[in-house]
Amino acid sequence: MDKILILDFGAQYTQLIARRVRELNVLSLVENFDYPYEKIVELAPKGVILSGGPSSVYQTGAPLPDKRIFETGIPIFGICYGLQVIAHLLGGEVDRSAHQEFGKAMLVVDDSKDIFHGIGDVSKVWMSHADKVTKLPAGFVPIAHTDNSPIAAVRSEERKTFGVQFHPEVVHTSKGKEILGNFVFKVCGCKADWEPGNFIEDTVRNVRAAVGNDKVICAMSGGVDSAVAAVLLHKAIGTQLHAVHIDNGVMRKDESRKVVEYFRKTFDINLHYVDATSTFLEKLRGVTDPEKKRKIIGNTFIEVFEKVAHEISDVKFLAQGTLYPDVIESQSHKGPSAKIKTHHNVGGLPEVMKLKLIEPFRLLFKDEVRQVGRALGISEEVITRHPFPGPGLAVRILSDITPEKLEILRDADEIFIDEIKKHGIYTDIWQAFAVLLPVQSVGVMGDERTYEYTIALRAVTSEDGMTADWAQMPYDLLAKVSGRIINEVRGVNRVVYDISSKPPATIEWE
Ligand code: XMP
Repeated sequence: MDKILILDFGAQYTQLIARRVRELNVLSLVENFDYPYEKIVELAPKGVILSGGPSSVYQTGAPLPDKRIFETGIPIFGICYGLQVIAHLLGGEVDRSAHQEFGKAMLVVDDSKDIFHGIGDVSKVWMSHADKVTKLPAGFVPIAHTDNSPIAAVRSEERKTFGVQFHPEVVHTSKGKEILGNFVFKVCGCKADWEPGNFIEDTVRNVRAAVGNDKVICAMSGGVDSAVAAVLLHKAIGTQLHAVHIDNGVMRKDESRKVVEYFRKTFDINLHYVDATSTFLEKLRGVTDPEKKRKIIGNTFIEVFEKVAHEISDVKFLAQGTLYPDVIESQSHKGPSAKIKTHHNVGGLPEVMKLKLIEPFRLLFKDEVRQVGRALGISEEVITRHPFPGPGLAVRILSDITPEKLEILRDADEIFIDEIKKHGIYTDIWQAFAVLLPVQSVGVMGDERTYEYTIALRAVTSEDGMTADWAQMPYDLLAKVSGRIINEVRGVNRVVYDISSKPPATIEWE
C-alpha cells in the first residue's frame, strides 16, 4: 500500500495533515521529526511531508530532520516550518520577520504546473508564521505569492521538493485538499487504496495469521471503538473471539441489555454478559471523591475481567481499540501533560493479564473506525453514539452513588437524549448528558412545597474532546427537556443548563 510519511516538528496541526491525506484514501503515517533515516528508507514512502512547528530554524536545538532525506529522490513537501527547514538545510535563508502573519491571505498562483494544478489563479489560504524564507536554495523557484509573502510557495523540479508558507491542511485554506491531493497523486503518484474495504480484508488476514487457533478476549462496552473491534475480530476468527460486556452498575438506562441483545442477534458474537452491578456499587458506596471513584471502577473492572478471562481459560490474546492519536502521542517527545483526570478505559489490563495484545485500530483515526464500522454493517445508532466515559454515571452524580440517584439520573438523561434526537441535532453535538447535582432546592408543585434535586444539562460541540464549546441549543428544545424532566422524573424540581466551555471547565463534571 502506498504511504505518505509525515515528519512532526511539533505543530498543533500535524494530525490534521495526516487526516487530510487519509481523506484522499492514501495511508499517511506520522513520525517524530528525528525518525531515523534508515527507517525512512525501509518504510519507502511515496512522499514525505514536513509539518509546521513552533520553532525557529536558527534557534539552538531547533528540530531538524536527517539531511539525507533530501538525497533519497522521494518527493518532499514542507509546510510552514517545514518549508523553512528545506530552505535552511539546502542553503537558503530564513529571516525572523518583523511582524508575524496570522490569519487569512489571498494566494496568487504564479505557476500551476503541479501542486497548484486546477485550483484557480487566486484563492484563500491560512497563514500562521513568524519566520519566512528570504533567499531560496539553488534550484528552487517561487511558484506563488501573497501580499505579505513574496515567497509563499516554492518548488525544485529536479528534487521534486515543494514548500508552502501557508497551511493547506486547515479548512480555512479553501483549496487545501486539492493542493495536498496534487502533491500526493500528481507528484508522488500514490494510488488511492486506503479505504475501509481494503483495511478490513488486510486486518482479517493479519489477525488470522497472528492468532492461529488461539482464543482472543476483548472488553466490549458498546461504545464505537470496542464495538467495531469486536465485530471485525468476529469476522476474522468467529467463535475464537470472546467478547465480554461488564455491567458496572453505572451504565445508562437499559444500556447493557440493549448492547448485549444487539450484538448477539445481529452479529452472533460470542458475547459474555457479566452483571457485576452489586460488586461495583458495593465498593462505590459512600465514596464522593472523583479520583477515588475512577480508581475503584478501574480496579474493579480489571478484577472482574480477569476472573472472566480465567473462566474462559487458555486465552492468549487481548484485543483493544487503541487509536492512532494515542499512538502518535506516545511516540512524540512532547513532555507528559499534567494529569487532570485519571482516564479509565482498559488501561491496566495488558500488564496485569500477561496476554499478547491485538490492536486492530492502531493506525486509525476515530472517523476511520466509524467508516470501518459502517462497512461492517453496524447500525448508525451505534456508530454515531456520543462518547461515554469509562467510569460512567459515577462521575455524573456529584456525591455518593445510590440506587435512587442512579435511577433519577438515568431517567433524566434518557429524556434529554431522546429530545435531542427528535430535534435532529444529535450528530451535530459531540456529547450531551445529564448530571445530578447534590443540591436540593425549594420548589412548588401543585400546592405543595418541594425540596428536591437539581439536574444540570451538559451539551458540547468539539472536534476531539480536547477543547469544547457549550452547544447553543434552541430554547424550545431546552424548554421541552426541562418540562419533561421536572414532570416525569420524581425527585427533581429544577433543571439548569451548563454554559461553560473547555477550557477552563472540562466536559464531564468530575
Ligand atoms: P473531560 O471531562 O476530561 O473529557 O473534558 C474529555 C472526554 O473524555 C471523556 N472521558 C473519559 N473517557 N474514561 C473514558 O474513557 C474516562 O475516565 C473519562 N473521563 C472523561 C469525556 O466523556 C469526554 O468525551
